[in-house]
Amino acid sequence: MAQSAVLTDSGPKAGRNFSRVQEIIKDYGATESALIPILQKVQDEYRYLPEEILTFVATALDIPPATVYGVATFYAQFSLEPKGKHIIKCCDGTACHVRKNQTIINAIEQRLNLSDGRQTTDDHRFTFEIVSCIGACALAPAVVIDGRVYGQTTPERIVAAIDEIEEADKAEAAQ
Ligand code: FES
Repeated sequence: MAQSAVLTDSGPKAGRNFSRVQEIIKDYGATESALIPILQKVQDEYRYLPEEILTFVATALDIPPATVYGVATFYAQFSLEPKGKHIIKCCDGTACHVRKNQTIINAIEQRLNLSDGRQTTDDHRFTFEIVSCIGACALAPAVVIDGRVYGQTTPERIVAAIDEIEEADKAEAAQ
């Protein structure tokens, strides 16, 4: 087991809490078998897998960086790009498609000012993803926001939900 991989907050990405990564590795154990749970926890903390942290994890677990990258890129649950605080997923399966999910997609992209394939807002508050069938076809068209399913929904309802989330965030920040 490799010890003492040293990574400080004084590098090019100053401000990252690398001590938190060390705690996570300590909690799960610095072994290759703990790699996936470690990456899951890191992603929970950072909302994505920063490159320098992948390198750090590889060093700490004494495994090749390519192995860590291989796992991080193989599983759809992992993201190498920063994601927003809130994740919005709009289903684009057949049932949702025929029930005019495109109007919802358009409304979300317009509300979040996303264009040119961008998925995450500039303030990193929201990430919007178009996904395949989420298994709620009877509720088509369906959208999932932070794990909550909005079934038989409309562009207006989803935009209102986004407005509510944003207001709640602002109220929380003002406290
Ligand atoms: S097609 Fe949208 S939930 Fe199945």
